[in-house]
Amino acid sequence: MARISASVYTSHVPAIGAAFDHGKTGEPYWQKVFAGYEFSKQWLKQHKPDVIFLVFNDHATAFSLEMIPTFAIGTAAEYAVADEGWGPRPVPKVTGHPELASHIAQSVIQQDFDLTIVNKMDVDHGLTVPLSLMCGQTDAWPCPVIPFAVNVVQYPVPSGKRCFMLGQAIRKAVESYDAPLNVQIWGTGGMSHQLQGPRAGLINAEWDNRFLDRLIAEPAALAELPHIDYVREAGSEGIELVMWLIARGAMADVAGGPPPSVAHRFYHVPASNTAVGHLILENPA
Ligand code: DHB
Ligand code: FE
Repeated sequence: MARISASVYTSHVPAIGAAFDHGKTGEPYWQKVFAGYEFSKQWLKQHKPDVIFLVFNDHATAFSLEMIPTFAIGTAAEYAVADEGWGPRPVPKVTGHPELASHIAQSVIQQDFDLTIVNKMDVDHGLTVPLSLMCGQTDAWPCPVIPFAVNVVQYPVPSGKRCFMLGQAIRKAVESYDAPLNVQIWGTGGMSHQLQGPRAGLINAEWDNRFLDRLIAEPAALAELPHIDYVREAGSEGIELVMWLIARGAMADVAGGPPPSVAHRFYHVPASNTAVGHLILENPA
């Protein structure tokens, strides 16, 4: 059977993608950000999964006010890199895993979560920046990716609690797939940031670090946090952090297994308008 071996959490700032694509990763400002992913790139090479289930949010790129799926699973064979206004990023196209994705859709919908099935979707910085941070420069991503888009852009957005429960359903779905696949689940977006209004530029490092502590040690209690707390404490775009609870809900301890080990933890301010947070949690083999 397939299993989830690890979860990865990371912010997805578009300016990181631009720094990466324009050879600026060594500049003093960016070097401090990219240094936090040196370990992670080696770790990913040593722990290469067969499939990455990548939870991210679309930023009105593939979707718009015309159509707002709360949870959308990509079941396509491939995904083009989106043009977000400056041309598509010069990174590899994303290869999907239609068979596993369709199985997860079937299983999760039968576990009472309503997913939108997406067979065509261009993927924006929400998906490609985490891949660049974890993989570095490459001609091809290391494995197929199942994109899982969550609406955290247009209200109403899903609660942290529902995201955490969805992660548990995704774990069951993966573990009922009849092939010995090593699957990683990534939760992306965040940490604290606000891009608009009088509080634009808001960063809350203390709150972010407490979020990381609680995500590791008491995710079920953290999942009870109402969305308004994210917005108040971590800024309007800090709500992206509910996506981390999907990945955390898929870890073994939530289903009564042993706790994960922390392979890596990193936090840095600033990157553009955003606090960058990053965690790697491993399920015991
Ligand atoms: C920034 C952060 C985001 O999450 C995003 O989607 C766009 C911009 C920023 O920090 O500039
Ligand atoms: Fe974002």
